Amino acid sequence: MINFRCDYGKIISAEELEERVSVTRQYVARAQQDDFGGWVDLPISYNRDEFARIKVAAEKINSDSDYLVCIGIGGSYLGHRAVIEALGGERGRTRIIYAGNSLSARGLKKIIEQIGDADFSINVISKSGTTTEPAVAFRVLKQLLDNKYGEEAAAGRIYATTDANKGALHDEAVAKGYATFVVPDNIGGRYSVLTAVGLLAIATAGINIDKLMDGAEEERASLISDGGKAADYAVLRNVMLEKGYNIEVLANFEPNFMYFNEWWKQLFGESEGKENKGIFPASVVYSTDLHSMGQYMQEGRRAIFETFVEVAGDFEGVKVPALAENLDGLQYLEGKELDNICKVATQATREAHANGSVPIMRIVIPDIDERSIGALIYFFEMSCALSAFTLGVNPFNQPGVEAYKVRMFELLGKPGYNN
Ligand code: PA5
Repeated sequence: MINFRCDYGKIISAEELEERVSVTRQYVARAQQDDFGGWVDLPISYNRDEFARIKVAAEKINSDSDYLVCIGIGGSYLGHRAVIEALGGERGRTRIIYAGNSLSARGLKKIIEQIGDADFSINVISKSGTTTEPAVAFRVLKQLLDNKYGEEAAAGRIYATTDANKGALHDEAVAKGYATFVVPDNIGGRYSVLTAVGLLAIATAGINIDKLMDGAEEERASLISDGGKAADYAVLRNVMLEKGYNIEVLANFEPNFMYFNEWWKQLFGESEGKENKGIFPASVVYSTDLHSMGQYMQEGRRAIFETFVEVAGDFEGVKVPALAENLDGLQYLEGKELDNICKVATQATREAHANGSVPIMRIVIPDIDERSIGALIYFFEMSCALSAFTLGVNPFNQPGVEAYKVRMFELLGKPGYNN
């Protein structure tokens, strides 16, 4: 379903690549058996009862809320924002607002002002249940909800997605009677978008989560025996790194994919950037960034390889109109579909960058729809795990994220931390 292409001839021979891919293929089973490998079989093993409860909750939220404030950070936020925006945004009554992903007072004040007198609900998402950024935002927004509806009715508007048995958020949800959804023990934050972590917001946005899961299931079927094209991508990333290309730029031509890029950066950055290793993941959205980063891509320091996410399907409906005069010099494009012009620009960019010594990889999705996005998520999750194992690091931990927290707690005087 997801197509991967790379003209790797100048980088590695076909024989050498096949030898390396054959080693990486074995890591599929390793990921599947890992304590945090629950995402591997998730598309076929997800909890159907909870899935049905998510749909019911999404309907209720659309019946009583103008806004759903999704409070979460990192893997507890980026995935659903990526999917909702890539698929063109909310389709029903409820708008999604994202909070708790910063400690910006100005940012939170703006959210409160945006909500104003409107009806709203909260989906607070935290696997640990203790992350400071979402916890602070939850406290502030919960007070707003309590003041507006009274404590009991407010509790009926809070949906807590957290650990099944433990943590501050779990305990509060039980004590106050919030509706709860589970972050599975065996799935880490950045691999959790297809669990309740992402699905409640995605369903509330009116997106068909059955089709999203179908896409992931289809992609799983094509990768599960030996990693398929995800193994090729994983190995080639590592080959690029060994050849001195230590920055990967994910590129696409769809403005709605900006948050998909952010999700991808977290997935690969947090999974691979450890033990002084890893490719630095960066991203661009063209054509916008052709007029900002395009110069660097073409002629800057040659440490970059570029992975294009492209859409095979055509989007019709916006054509260049024909005019009597040719004042803007665009007569040669008259009658052409804009999507077709964009595809030509994509090819031109690929070819120009390749001529500028940027190794190019291509990931082609059939269309921008639920199935394709579900498949793309699974493809990247599998590629990321295989790539990290190939690099020799644990794809599922993030020990480095603790350092700033410890220092922040020392400075804030959290009990148990000495400045
Ligand atoms: O991928 C991860 O594990 C992290 O990005 C977490 O999702 C992030 O730190 C938030 O953690 P939590 O859900 O425990 O609040």
